[in-house]
Amino acid sequence: TDVERVDALIAKMTIEEKAGQMTCLADSFRPFNPPNPQVGIQDARRLADEVRKGRVGCLFNGIGVAGARRAQEIAVRDSRLGIPLLFAGDVIHGLKTIFPVPLAEASSFDPDLCQRTARAMAVEATAAGLHLTFAPMVDVARDQRWGRVVEGAGEDVTLTGLLSAARIRGFQGRDLRRDDSLLACPKHFAAYGAVAAGLEYGNVDISDETLRETHLPPFGQAFAAGALTTMAAFNEINGVPATADRELLTDILRGEMQFRGFVFSDYTADEELVAHGFAQDDRDAARLAVLAGVDMSMQSGLYIRYLPDLVKSGAVPMATVDVAVRRILYVKAAIGLFDNPYRSLDEAAEKTRIFTPAHRALAREAAARSVVLLKNDGLLPIDPARGQKIALIGPFADDTANLYGPWAFYGDPGKGVDIATGLRAALPDGATLTVTHGSAVNAPIDGGIAQAVAAAKAADIVLLAIGESQAMSGEAQSRTVIEIPPAQQALADAVAATGKPVAVLLRHGRALALHGGVANAQAILATWFLGSQAGHAIADILLGRVDPSGKLPVSFPWESGQEPFYYDRKSTGRPVVDDRTEYKARYATTDNSARFPFGHGLTYTDFVLDRLTLSDTALRWDAAIEVTARITNKGKRKGSEVVQLYTRDRVASRTRPIRELKRMARVTLAPGESRTIRFSLSRRDLEFVGAKSQRIAEPGAFDLWVGQSSVGGLKGAFTLYALPEAG
Ligand code: IFM
Repeated sequence: TDVERVDALIAKMTIEEKAGQMTCLADSFRPFNPPNPQVGIQDARRLADEVRKGRVGCLFNGIGVAGARRAQEIAVRDSRLGIPLLFAGDVIHGLKTIFPVPLAEASSFDPDLCQRTARAMAVEATAAGLHLTFAPMVDVARDQRWGRVVEGAGEDVTLTGLLSAARIRGFQGRDLRRDDSLLACPKHFAAYGAVAAGLEYGNVDISDETLRETHLPPFGQAFAAGALTTMAAFNEINGVPATADRELLTDILRGEMQFRGFVFSDYTADEELVAHGFAQDDRDAARLAVLAGVDMSMQSGLYIRYLPDLVKSGAVPMATVDVAVRRILYVKAAIGLFDNPYRSLDEAAEKTRIFTPAHRALAREAAARSVVLLKNDGLLPIDPARGQKIALIGPFADDTANLYGPWAFYGDPGKGVDIATGLRAALPDGATLTVTHGSAVNAPIDGGIAQAVAAAKAADIVLLAIGESQAMSGEAQSRTVIEIPPAQQALADAVAATGKPVAVLLRHGRALALHGGVANAQAILATWFLGSQAGHAIADILLGRVDPSGKLPVSFPWESGQEPFYYDRKSTGRPVVDDRTEYKARYATTDNSARFPFGHGLTYTDFVLDRLTLSDTALRWDAAIEVTARITNKGKRKGSEVVQLYTRDRVASRTRPIRELKRMARVTLAPGESRTIRFSLSRRDLEFVGAKSQRIAEPGAFDLWVGQSSVGGLKGAFTLYALPEAG
């Protein structure tokens, strides 16, 4: 059995070989990666020597079968124990076929779509010789200034949990031993999405309740979906860096959450314990990380350098090392590496399974499903039959360098479809398209605005492609102001002043605060970073070939200064009831609501909800109630709507958010068609983290809304009753 095999190996391993299995280094067998000066490995030849000596267990962020096969042959044939290497990489939203960034795709509110795209990514990644992806990011992002918002499923814990679990099922498939199964690594454990002021790598000062209620649950769902690895976060939590936090990585992760896989450090995060002011030196950092529960050290090389001596000196028990090695080898065994070390190393698959027409079609579908129609004063869809003159203006009009978004570094430049190309392919004869940049992303262009204004004046409709470059979000890309850069804002204002109807096509990796000519445009579309098929998907939406159906996974505030901002806030003792009251929880200058709330997204048709019913207004402790509502397509086009159910616990022993998403359901209806949506709610759905960190539901009154966003909706109420006292 795998257990016997792993135990037999551990019995034979030297401490150096054990530390080697616990070491993960950038893959210089495959050209993607630069040499790694930190561990003194300058080239593939030296790395080969390390592999031969059993001093490496995992290589990461290289792709290509030939290089991986060379490395694996050395590990299997030339190292003393022949333990195969694990090949890992960041396939965050695609390898060669680039799907929408995860935040964009979360706008679909559709686990099935996320599962299907993750499957396609896994098929490509494993065809390129990978066994594991460092994805999905399951951090709940509470502050849009944080650049890594783009990599997750947004601000909400329920949505993040559902979509993350779907992604993991997609990556891993049904059978881990299949050569197209890609191990998932939900990350970053934990609370990275709560860094103070959205500052990348910043600190987290958080209550135990919020940690457990908002930031840990998506990990629970990820593990339940079968994830066998996770990654410790860069940040500290309440004064202890996650990488050295034994309570977090052992007591909570393993004790409470029953996680049975292995923990990666983040990139050199163990070494960074010194800069945190938590470890004396590198040796001490290695000791703290391994004792806390980090099984695999990424890129610093600290474990291979210090673990042998730490064990010999008694500072780290051999048993701790053995447990970590056992976890790592179990995962290798679980994917069948001991039986077939060359799994996922098939040159034929590499040629046939990557960037296929089927994957591109899925990327187009996913991209269109990721678009959110934020506003539409009847301008869209464009009716090309009218022979419209269209001016496509802005730095992203025909730009191919910012289609994919961050973390798509394996995607081939130039293979993405830009907006102009997508539109030209879709517009019928007779429609005209002019393309003008008007501005660069972060700087004006000489005469650019004048040209853009002239183009706008000559057109019937303006499409304004503006926003953030892909370098403005992602890791290490926190921003203090989440607005359209000034040069582009000036462009938008000048174009708006022409009086021509404008549809704004936002390019972005986070929620933005919109102003002036952007906010006042007749139509606004959140088009994020949509990947390989961006241009086709945007054209599909603009021309109404696909009805927009995306919903915001993050709230768009009025101002940057509202951040951190999310819909499931607390009431405060002085909630704002109308805008004239003075001493209320509000900013002096800005309404503390959202310009576009979480869950918001329009369609080209008109959905109306009515007939809210509850099977009972009394929810018994061990029972459930059924909530139904009717949705009708009252418009003239077919369309899809995501119906959302929110609750509020009116009074509890810990104050509760003003709303919490509990359920969602997607429907597609023809004009005039109605459907009754049914949701079931039980006590479990009403639990929260109360005193002593226990999950509890408390009897009492609850409000409930069934709506089309986190604002408004049909309102109901029910009461949760405790079990009658025995006897
Ligand atoms: O997976 C990533 C992580 O999210 C951030 N630091 C680097 C890792 C590996 O590339």
